[in-house]
Amino acid sequence: MNKNVFNELILKLNGKTNDEILRWFLYEFKGRIVLSSSLGAEDQVLTDMVVKIAPGTRIFTLDTGRLFYETYELIEKTCLRYKIKMEIYSPNSEQVETMVAQKGINLFYHSIENRKECCNIRKIVPLKRAFNGAEVWICGLRKDQSITRSEAQMAEWDEVNGMIKLSPLIDWTEKQVWDYIKENGVPYNTLHDKGYPSIGCQPCTREIFPGEDIRAGRWWWENADSKECGLHKREK
Ligand code: ADX
Ligand code: SF4
Repeated sequence: MNKNVFNELILKLNGKTNDEILRWFLYEFKGRIVLSSSLGAEDQVLTDMVVKIAPGTRIFTLDTGRLFYETYELIEKTCLRYKIKMEIYSPNSEQVETMVAQKGINLFYHSIENRKECCNIRKIVPLKRAFNGAEVWICGLRKDQSITRSEAQMAEWDEVNGMIKLSPLIDWTEKQVWDYIKENGVPYNTLHDKGYPSIGCQPCTREIFPGEDIRAGRWWWENADSKECGLHKREK
């Protein structure tokens, strides 16, 4: 797959709804498509959809080693509920040990550079392994999550990974996500009921206060325009 092939393919899908596009990809790319789940509300919606449309589709999560206990609980609950095996990827232990020895266990608070290094070792490197054999990845991005995501499309060519990136919930509002969860009895992270709309690693996520935007609790000590871990970088 390359960008030109993707561009031709996308022309064929012109006029289809996001739901139809998701179905099309799940059937056409069977065995070569993966859902990347952080167990967040959007990803739980996608897990429910994917399991119903195309059972057996690979679903993976990146276990950074610094997730909330509630997230680990939800991994188990989700696997039991849908009778699936989620693939769980851990970071390379030598890389983590070297980083921590040089920069400290909570290095991320000290500089953006340190924070990005930690995200790189704990998420981006394992992500490459998780993508092995896949040509399409599905993720839970929504345009209105942040200014860094307002330009994202339902189907994009992901230059960084040389893959197609699908964001079926790209145009959904937060309310639509929660309506779906409630209507379908989808399991969700109990932290969502405690003021955490967006959940990542425990040391880098706090609850939000009334009036704050939904990603205000992620890397809250940084500016809104630097708040990406590199998973969703748009250019090489
Ligand atoms: S992040 O880049 O700020 O961490 P966010 O939490 O909004 O991302 O999630 C956006 C999408 O990135 C998720 O819907 C999911 O597809 C993917 N993602 C984020 N974190 C992980 C993770 N730990 N494991 C797998 N996928 C993830
Ligand atoms: Fe490290 Fe924080 Fe990034 Fe998690 S979110 S990988 S703890 S810097």
